[in-house]
Amino acid sequence: MNKEKIQQLEEEIKNLHYRPTNLKHSFSNVETKEFYCWFWDIHIKPVIEYSKQMAEKYGADVDAVWVGAILHDVARLTDEEPHDEIGSQKGYEMLLEKGFDENFAQKVKNIILRHRCKNYPPESLEEKVVASADAMAHFIPPFYLWISKYSNMSFAEVLEKNTKKIDRDFNDKIFFEDEKKLVEAQYNVLKNWFEFKI
Ligand SMILES: [Fe+2]
Repeated sequence: MNKEKIQQLEEEIKNLHYRPTNLKHSFSNVETKEFYCWFWDIHIKPVIEYSKQMAEKYGADVDAVWVGAILHDVARLTDEEPHDEIGSQKGYEMLLEKGFDENFAQKVKNIILRHRCKNYPPESLEEKVVASADAMAHFIPPFYLWISKYSNMSFAEVLEKNTKKIDRDFNDKIFFEDEKKLVEAQYNVLKNWFEFKI
């Protein structure tokens, strides 16, 4: 029962990325559409895959992790920050509306709230799984090209900011040694790129 409902939810959120209804701040129609389309394909989709694989492997609640991954960046669709806090409340309400039970919705709410490991560090296994998957997905090769294409920072700032981001993702957000090893080679490649000095 839950699986079918979750599949429907995934389809619905995917469609919101493929056909965004809100114009992204300072973006044209075409840019908004392209931005969110790729956001789904190179970020949300891999976060879902990594999360489900880790949930099976480490014995976490697969359904909660799956929904948490689908909704972890839901507030980004409307450009709202802090997207962990706003998204967790939005996701929670959405799940109750769709008839998921309160306990489940609460679990997902905490997964969304804690996925950035910023002000709210993950505590439960499910929260650690999605936070790790989020960080791992940042090491998928086109991710940083995509980020840089839409950045309004100078190139030097992009390099500096991304150096910090990959260090934080690799060192503080991936909670499992096996998964750290999976992205280690790519971490080293990106580190060479971003720390390039003339
Ligand atoms: Fe994310």
